[in-house]
Amino acid sequence: MELQKHNPSSKSTYTSIDVEDHHQQINKFVGDITQLVDDQNQLIMASTPFVLSFIDLSYGLSKISPKMALPFCQNNRDDHEIGTKLLLDNISGQAREGEILAVLGASGSGKSTLIDALAGRIEKESLKGAVTLNGEVLESRVLKTISAYVMQDDLLFPMLTVEETLMFSAEFRLPRSVSKQIKQARVQALIDQLGLQSVANTVIGDEGHRGVSGGERRRVSIGVDIIHDPILLFLDEPTSGLDSTSAFMVVKVLQGISKSGSIVIMSIHQPSNRIVSLLDNLIFLSRGQTIYSGKPTSLLQFFKEFGHPIPENENPTEFAIDLICEFEESSDRITSLVEFNKSWAQARTMNNPNKLCDKKPNINALEDAIKARISKGKLVSIATTSDSNSISSVPSFVNPFWIETIVIAKRLLTNSRRMPKLFVIRLFVTLVAGLMLATLYRHLDASPKGIDGRLGFSSFCMSVIIFICLEEIPKCFLERYIFMREAAFNAYRTSSYVLAHSIVSVPSLIVLSFTFVITTFWNVGLAGGFSGFLFFFFLIFASFWAGSSFMAFISGLVSRYLLAVCIGAAFSTLFILFSGNFISSNEIPPYWIWFHYISLVKYPFQGILQNEFGDSTKCFVRGLQFFDHTPLAGVSDSTKIKLLKSMSSVLGTSVTSSTCLVNGTRVLEMKGDTNIGKWTCLWITIAWGFFFMVLFYFTLLFGRNNKRR
Ligand SMILES: Nc1ncnc2c1ncn2[C@@H]1O[C@H](COP(=O)(O)OP(=O)(O)O)[C@@H](O)[C@H]1O
Ligand SMILES: [Mg+2]
Repeated sequence: MELQKHNPSSKSTYTSIDVEDHHQQINKFVGDITQLVDDQNQLIMASTPFVLSFIDLSYGLSKISPKMALPFCQNNRDDHEIGTKLLLDNISGQAREGEILAVLGASGSGKSTLIDALAGRIEKESLKGAVTLNGEVLESRVLKTISAYVMQDDLLFPMLTVEETLMFSAEFRLPRSVSKQIKQARVQALIDQLGLQSVANTVIGDEGHRGVSGGERRRVSIGVDIIHDPILLFLDEPTSGLDSTSAFMVVKVLQGISKSGSIVIMSIHQPSNRIVSLLDNLIFLSRGQTIYSGKPTSLLQFFKEFGHPIPENENPTEFAIDLICEFEESSDRITSLVEFNKSWAQARTMNNPNKLCDKKPNINALEDAIKARISKGKLVSIATTSDSNSISSVPSFVNPFWIETIVIAKRLLTNSRRMPKLFVIRLFVTLVAGLMLATLYRHLDASPKGIDGRLGFSSFCMSVIIFICLEEIPKCFLERYIFMREAAFNAYRTSSYVLAHSIVSVPSLIVLSFTFVITTFWNVGLAGGFSGFLFFFFLIFASFWAGSSFMAFISGLVSRYLLAVCIGAAFSTLFILFSGNFISSNEIPPYWIWFHYISLVKYPFQGILQNEFGDSTKCFVRGLQFFDHTPLAGVSDSTKIKLLKSMSSVLGTSVTSSTCLVNGTRVLEMKGDTNIGKWTCLWITIAWGFFFMVLFYFTLLFGRNNKRR
């Protein structure tokens, strides 16, 4: 039986044999992990153990009056602060190698804030107090290298298998000098450590695709972040949203990781008794203050001495959180609990003076400890990159730019190849739109009707393309969250991501452009023969490229999905309005003309018009056609000939039924778009695409520093 069946949605398919299997599998899993823990236990502990200490951590947010919270009012910020909200209030504690430190508390008590503070995700200037590893304050780059932070959400590519996901993570995080075999061995070891053997070749899955269960997905998330075997592991509520068995398995895995020589610090909401038995130290928070800090086993004694003994058969942590919530209703009561904790902790430190010695900083202890651990196979990424054997000389990115680009491109391709639906829908929309336009504007000739048809077709062509590009936004959003997660630990450069993203999109844009051009060019009867066809193809491709880049930029700029779609659609409409078709450029008021020049649609639209009407020898209105689309259109041909004759005598020129009255150049003049040639239009459109890709790069670059201020 596959572990996938743990998924609660498929519970109804269980049989009694399945359930028995399920239990056997869990027992085997727990047995394996215990064995692994014991094995690794013996290997470590010979060198200096790691101790992460945090002393008097305080972090507050200025409360600003809402009126003054606007970005452009920030210079006057100090004048309008109306106090500070303390999210962390003098929190101290220690976490040791081989142990799990769990941060508990009701929702909003500051658990995530504390984890962020310890993981270096709060700007140094805003955080008071000190976080040290073996007595030394960690530089941000070193911290990123030796630690891992697992977010609450599982942000993974849905169509990659568990093994592939971990392998890509290994390719990002482990340098090129590590051979493929070593990377594969590391991935296999991790799969064993995470208990994912049975689902190694199952895809992660999402709402639309069946994949691994929630607990397994969470373990994969952890695996992705710990591929380099970090010394410090931070997790924000790794068990939330999981059923109790899956949650237990996750914590069991974390115990294994801690015993392999790491410090594990996590926040957890209402752990079961089974989970508590795996935790080594607890910190209870309430409104950013420490309520209890110590071993889970001392919790009973603590509350007994405080005068609220925990009843037998009650889950001590649940009791504690309920009691804290009750006390939170009055600030006096919570203060009494905080004060009691201080005196209780002091009394215990006095009774156990050995503990004080642990805090003594030891010169070079950290460097030595890390080196010792690297020599035992931990921190795979440093082990092979650091020539000078100094952890501070570790580069920010372990791989060169081009390797990162190739790996990211490979991963994007693998995922999108297995999810062809998105592309097929896009292709279908393009095909249908192309066919509709081709039938509506069928076989346009050189006539007044042909002029209108060509203008209408060109304009709708651009509108259709820019709206098809809107589909870029959901794709970018899915990728962006994964990018943020990976960028947080310097998995790769922003530039390699943007380049890979662009390269991967090119083949699909070529297919879409080709489909559109094939369905329309000959059916509509566009001008220029084969060279015209090629030009039209390049122009359509350039429009797709510029439109997709623009949408990517919008998705990077706006953090909310729906808002991004609305803004993308609104801009598309404005671009079309200002393209020069509906209002020609010489009729646009001067104060709006800038929008005409920044309209993405203007240049390709003008390019098509130049292609269609650029030939001055081609006549569009000849003799009698002059009366088409006028109130005189209905009169007989003989009357029209008479009218032409009288016009000739008034104008002093000869206008016969075959005289050319409007040629291609005249049409362009009437539209006011003669200033730029068709090839220039093409290059400008392509340049727009690059310009928005650069802007997209900057939005990601500034967005990737997701530290709290
Ligand atoms: N940017 C912010 N602005 C105002 N309050 C915030 C902000 N971030 C967090 N908080 C507040 O800080 C407190 C602690 O938040 P958090 O650490 O996320 O709690 P927990 O993880 O325990 O649920 C909460 O009361 C929350 O409302
Ligand atoms: Mg939280």
